[in-house]
Amino acid sequence: MAADEDSEKFSVLFVCLGNICRSPTAEAVFRKLAADAGLGERIYIDSAGTIGYHEGAPADGRATAAALARGLDLGSLRARRVVAEDFARFDLILAMDEENLADLQRIRPDDARARLGLLLEYAADTGVKGVPDPYYGGKNGFEQVLDLVTAACAGLVEDVRRTLR
Ligand code: 4NP
Repeated sequence: MAADEDSEKFSVLFVCLGNICRSPTAEAVFRKLAADAGLGERIYIDSAGTIGYHEGAPADGRATAAALARGLDLGSLRARRVVAEDFARFDLILAMDEENLADLQRIRPDDARARLGLLLEYAADTGVKGVPDPYYGGKNGFEQVLDLVTAACAGLVEDVRRTLR
């Protein structure tokens, strides 16, 4: 089972480009769904970006507002960049889109423990492989992020529940 602060926990890292829009949203959505499923104490959840440009910054205000309207608080999250140790610390690293996944595969150490994948593999019938980057778009993009991420995180909770059984 997982490494990290609590080695008994299953650990999941969500990764996007900047760690201020999509992956913080996924982190908050998954934390809520895992808690609702009674698994909150058994899963360690974090997020990071493939670039360090926004390191230390809070989540994007548009992402924060869209999440808050659905009862999710991104207020305490701060952006960080993916580091090599993440590949040893986490059981599962889930990219928001195929570019993020390719970037992760490029920096993946040979002895990595974490399994890499796309978050939307856990959502059936969305018709898309990646969560579209909402950064340069309008408000609608942030609603779409929440819709896609919520569908996938529901599937992910069920998958992790089976793993932890
Ligand atoms: P994210 O969105 O990867 O979902 O956090 C973006 C955030 C920042 C930038 C691009 C996408 N940027 O170019 O700074």
